[in-house]
Amino acid sequence: MMQPFYLAGILMMALFLSCLRPESLEPCVEVDANITYQCMDQNLSRIPDNIPSSVKNLDLSFNPLKIIGSHSFSNLLELHLLDLSRCEIETIEDEAFQGLHQLSALMLTGNPIQSLSRGSFYGLANLQNLVAVEIMLASLESLPIGHLITLKKVNVAHNYIHSSKLPEYFSNLTNLEYLDLSNNYIQTIYHKDLHVLRENPQLNLSLELSLNPIDFIEPQAFQGIRLHELTLRSNFNSTNVMKTCIQNLDGLRVHRLILGEFKNERHIENFDYSVMEGLCNVIIDEFRFTYVNGFSKDITHFSCLANVSAVSLVNVDLDNLENIPNYFKWQNLTVSRCNFEHFPPLKLPFLKSLIFTNNKGAVSFQTMNLPSLTFLDLSDNRMSFMGCCSYHELKTSNLKYLNLSFNGAIFMSKNFMGLEQLEYLDFQHSALRKTTEFSAFLSLEKLLYLDISYTNTKIDFNGIFYGLTSLKTLKMAGNTFKENTLSNVFINTTNLTYLDISKCQLQQISWGVFDTLHRLELLNMSNNNLLLLDSSYYKQLHSLKTLDYSFNHIQTANEILHFPKNLTSLNLTNNSFACTCEHQDFLQWVKDQRLFLVNAEQMTCTTPVEMKDSMVLDFRNATCYMHKTIISVTVISVLVVSTIIFLVYKFYFHLILIAGCKKYSRSESIYDAFVIYSSQDEDWVRNELVKNLEEGVPPFQLCLHYRDFIPGVAIAANIIQEGFHKSRKVIVVVSRHFIQSRWCIFEYEIAQTWQFLSSHSGIIFIVLEKVEKSLLRQQVELYRLLSRNTYLEWEDNALGRHIFWRRLKKALLDGRTWNPKETTETENTKEEATTSI
Ligand SMILES: *[C@@H]1O[C@H](CO)[C@@H](O)[C@H](O)[C@H]1NC(C)=O
Ligand SMILES: *[C@@H]1O[C@H](CO)[C@@H](O)[C@H](O)[C@H]1NC(C)=O
Ligand SMILES: *[C@@H]1O[C@H](CO)[C@@H](O)[C@H](O)[C@H]1NC(C)=O
Ligand SMILES: *[C@@H]1O[C@H](CO)[C@@H](O)[C@H](O)[C@H]1NC(C)=O
Ligand SMILES: *[C@@H]1O[C@H](CO)[C@@H](O)[C@H](O)[C@H]1NC(C)=O
Ligand SMILES: *[C@@H]1O[C@H](CO)[C@@H](O)[C@H](O)[C@H]1NC(C)=O
Ligand SMILES: *[C@@H]1O[C@H](CO)[C@@H](O)[C@H](O)[C@H]1NC(C)=O
Ligand SMILES: *[C@@H]1O[C@H](CO)[C@@H](O)[C@H](O)[C@H]1NC(C)=O
Ligand SMILES: *[C@@H]1O[C@H](CO)[C@@H](O)[C@H](O)[C@H]1NC(C)=O
Ligand SMILES: *[C@@H]1O[C@H](CO)[C@@H](O)[C@H](O)[C@H]1NC(C)=O
Ligand SMILES: *[C@@H]1O[C@H](CO)[C@@H](O)[C@H](O)[C@H]1NC(C)=O
Ligand SMILES: *[C@@H]1O[C@H](CO)[C@@H](O)[C@H](O)[C@H]1NC(C)=O
Repeated sequence: MMQPFYLAGILMMALFLSCLRPESLEPCVEVDANITYQCMDQNLSRIPDNIPSSVKNLDLSFNPLKIIGSHSFSNLLELHLLDLSRCEIETIEDEAFQGLHQLSALMLTGNPIQSLSRGSFYGLANLQNLVAVEIMLASLESLPIGHLITLKKVNVAHNYIHSSKLPEYFSNLTNLEYLDLSNNYIQTIYHKDLHVLRENPQLNLSLELSLNPIDFIEPQAFQGIRLHELTLRSNFNSTNVMKTCIQNLDGLRVHRLILGEFKNERHIENFDYSVMEGLCNVIIDEFRFTYVNGFSKDITHFSCLANVSAVSLVNVDLDNLENIPNYFKWQNLTVSRCNFEHFPPLKLPFLKSLIFTNNKGAVSFQTMNLPSLTFLDLSDNRMSFMGCCSYHELKTSNLKYLNLSFNGAIFMSKNFMGLEQLEYLDFQHSALRKTTEFSAFLSLEKLLYLDISYTNTKIDFNGIFYGLTSLKTLKMAGNTFKENTLSNVFINTTNLTYLDISKCQLQQISWGVFDTLHRLELLNMSNNNLLLLDSSYYKQLHSLKTLDYSFNHIQTANEILHFPKNLTSLNLTNNSFACTCEHQDFLQWVKDQRLFLVNAEQMTCTTPVEMKDSMVLDFRNATCYMHKTIISVTVISVLVVSTIIFLVYKFYFHLILIAGCKKYSRSESIYDAFVIYSSQDEDWVRNELVKNLEEGVPPFQLCLHYRDFIPGVAIAANIIQEGFHKSRKVIVVVSRHFIQSRWCIFEYEIAQTWQFLSSHSGIIFIVLEKVEKSLLRQQVELYRLLSRNTYLEWEDNALGRHIFWRRLKKALLDGRTWNPKETTETENTKEEATTSI
């Protein structure tokens, strides 16, 4: 049901936007407003005119533009980069790019250009990089770039150039650094072809000639020429041709010479290293050799390279590097992806840097003799090291950089004795053994960088990092700690600024672990199993800027969080936040701190189930208050209701009485008195009270429940309806039985209410026998009333009876012709008379 609305919404939005911007940039994509536009592959046959004139980077590639007329870009004068690759361009007219003074890069790749005129590139006052690959260019002469004196790079690869002659206009291109002529049809290089280079010795050119089918280089063609770099890869189709050509490079002075082939362009089946012997008359600083299938692997052919300072051998079949004579001045040697049968125990006195990586055959490290070595990278060889590491194996005490990462097992048996100069040490993804049996790094006081990530190390020894007092970076992700508790291993690494302990299965952190790391700026604890965020661990990290706690199981924080002042980025994403009211303080903290939390808007809740995958920032603390309110309202209502029920229950009859009060007016009274008595005293009531009052003069009408109550009506209702409402007075016959009877007391209580409601003294107490005061006191209220109200004592002698009946009749008569004033007066006098018991 939602979808149509949604679609409609989008449509409306689109309409709105298109109204807002009638000049929609269709078909171009605005990558960076007013700066970068991409109009690639839009079947455009002309340059779109709705592109802002401020555009700097414009990609028009793969459109059938066919022709670039003059002043085509006169509206886009700010262009820096223009890509016209594969636009089927056949013609570039005069002054086509006129006005593009800012343009620094022009791509014309893949256009079948038939016609370039002399002024095609006029106006490009600042062009530095021209890519004219695959434009069917037949010769450098026909490329009209002689006036582009700012050019630094010209790429004319994949064309039909047959001649290696560099035209005279090159002497104008004094800034030229790179000329790519690869993949053309150059077969010969003559002395005169390079005339312009000889004329301009200040040029610092890198010349790329790979993939030209060179079969002849004139002797001394390069005589007197200085190049920055010369690349000749996959140029020769036989060792003999190559040998002659290489020999004829004599007289060249080149900073970097790159020889060999390409992985997919192998022309020489069995390479003969004797071609190297032709390099004796070339002055080379750096030599690179790639993709060669060896034939004779004799290293002695390298003798012409003895004075080279840096040698790089990549994908080369070689096997006896250890035979390199020790007079070789090589300082840097890179050997990568070469097929060795065993590790070469090199002996090169001048070697400073050895990079020996990715070589399959080398499986076991052997002692070398490289006294000048400072940089050693033996990574990625599947090699094992039986005893690591000390001066004994490397025979150098100058080593600063040692990389043994991505290898096999490394047994730590020596504590880097003689290698105290080490500053960088990398063991990641190798299997470190015995690291935790002693303080292996104790002597590495100068070490700045240590990586033991993913080395299968189980850290159960707190002294593992003793001695690393200068260490700045420690990476130890993917290891484990004893009992999954981060222990106090950082006591002595007080200079740390970067610490990575992610993926260590950590569940707990010992107290004070980080307390010595006052310089730490980045701490990565992500991808562990931590449950609680507790800022007190980090309070000593005064320099901490970044704390990564992502991918843990954090539900909440246990207290108010106070992180070091310098912390600018805290990553709490991908945890298991509990979005319940119980943790609302923490959730509110998240909201308040969302600017310094990384991707706070992506933090999701995990519990409770109904909140799963909802956003932490969406948590409303108002719901918590609502809950509280609801709870308190409920509690109060329950209390009130139960109190009411209790009261109603307790005073049910009193209420009925109250209700009845309105119904029965006083005049309706048909009884003179309602008698409350204990059934034990019924004899007295029948024989004395009823006889004397009902049969006497005047006769009184008494209400007696054994006689006057309507059968079938609840007794209590009878008491109220018949007894109280229809009687003027109530006679309470007080005896020991009465006080002990709960029912009588109940009746009496109702009577009291009735008296209160009738607001006149209607209760007459008859005390049948002398009741013990203590017994009477149990019934506190009765006692109080007795001592305050009219009461008559029944006496068993004649005179007493006479007085008794007279007083009773008088009391009953009182109110028959009722006068409130009189009553209060008589009451008062009675009170005075009877307050003695
Ligand atoms: C692009 O240029 C237009 C006109 O010059 C200007 O109004 C607009 O603010 C610019 N947009 C941006 C993102 O710079
Ligand atoms: C490209 O545009 C032309 C007309 O400009 C049209 O004839 C041709 O069909 C379009 N090609 C595609 C693939 O849209
Ligand atoms: C070399 O540059 C000068 C001035 O910068 C110019 O006059 C001359 O035509 C240019 N040479 C060529 C071959 O373009
Ligand atoms: C020559 O050019 C290269 C870049 O191609 C640069 O690294 C090098 O420093 C330059 N050499 C001189 C002497 O300018
Ligand atoms: C090497 O190239 C030359 C000249 O292009 C050609 O004559 C010869 O046949 C080629 N040889 C091989 C083995 O391809
Ligand atoms: C290397 O330099 C030494 C002198 O420093 C020189 O005698 C020797 O001939 C040079 N070797 C090569 C192959 O250039
Ligand atoms: C030689 O190795 C050192 C490291 O020891 C490095 O700084 C330098 O760039 C290397 N030089 C070359 C040409 O590879
Ligand atoms: C720690 O680092 C500081 C500054 O980076 C440096 O001055 C100090 O010498 C270092 N301390 C140790 C013991 O290396
Ligand atoms: C490590 O630090 C502790 C406490 O600062 C100190 O007592 C101990 O001597 C240090 N150990 C080493 C080997 O530096
Ligand atoms: C905190 O950062 C400020 C500014 O980046 C810096 O000046 C100050 O030294 C830092 N405090 C600590 C203890 O590193
Ligand atoms: C956490 O945030 C920091 C800082 O933005 C970032 O460098 C880090 O890559 C993030 N962690 C993860 C696991 O994405
Ligand atoms: C609840 O949220 C409001 C607004 O978001 C905030 O001002 C208030 O401090 C919060 N209360 C608590 C207890 O977090």
